[in-house]
Amino acid sequence: MAKALLTLRVNGERQTVAAEPHHTLLEVLREDLGLTGTKHGCELGECGACTVLVDGVPVLSCLTLPSEIGDAEVTTVEGLAKGPELHPLQTAFAEEAAAQCGYCTPGMLLSAKSLLDHTTAPTREEMAEAIAGNLCRCTGYTAIYEAIDKAAERIREKQPAGARS
Ligand code: FES
Ligand code: FES
Repeated sequence: MAKALLTLRVNGERQTVAAEPHHTLLEVLREDLGLTGTKHGCELGECGACTVLVDGVPVLSCLTLPSEIGDAEVTTVEGLAKGPELHPLQTAFAEEAAAQCGYCTPGMLLSAKSLLDHTTAPTREEMAEAIAGNLCRCTGYTAIYEAIDKAAERIREKQPAGARS
């Protein structure tokens, strides 16, 4: 099948690629843009390994066609750090051993980022809900909750008083 030119906004940059028209966002990110941080799991919408953010909202890239997202901003795990500065979630996941094999981690980080972008004081229930679609076979989740908690605390510490939610 002939490839078609496709323009996407990914991690703050506009990218134009020639891609198979039937390819999913997951395939385009990994195979055409080389952003292999987004993981290829079940391809059935069940594991969450392929989660990316589209305009800040977690989306399963294995079930999304690039044509569905138009000019929306896509954030992958490669876009979390700001230059050499890791996102607080990345640091906390490393410190709390919240990543073991790491296969679920990119999707988990992005779901957690979406949560912390909305509230910097999430309850355990809100955390559970935010990562409900991200399956982890290794950690038992406790370390993941503790890492999200720690990242939230660090984000709160940097916020000006009065801006906390
Ligand atoms: S690879 Fe998309 S949900 Fe499993
Ligand atoms: S760290 Fe292995 S699946 Fe989550």
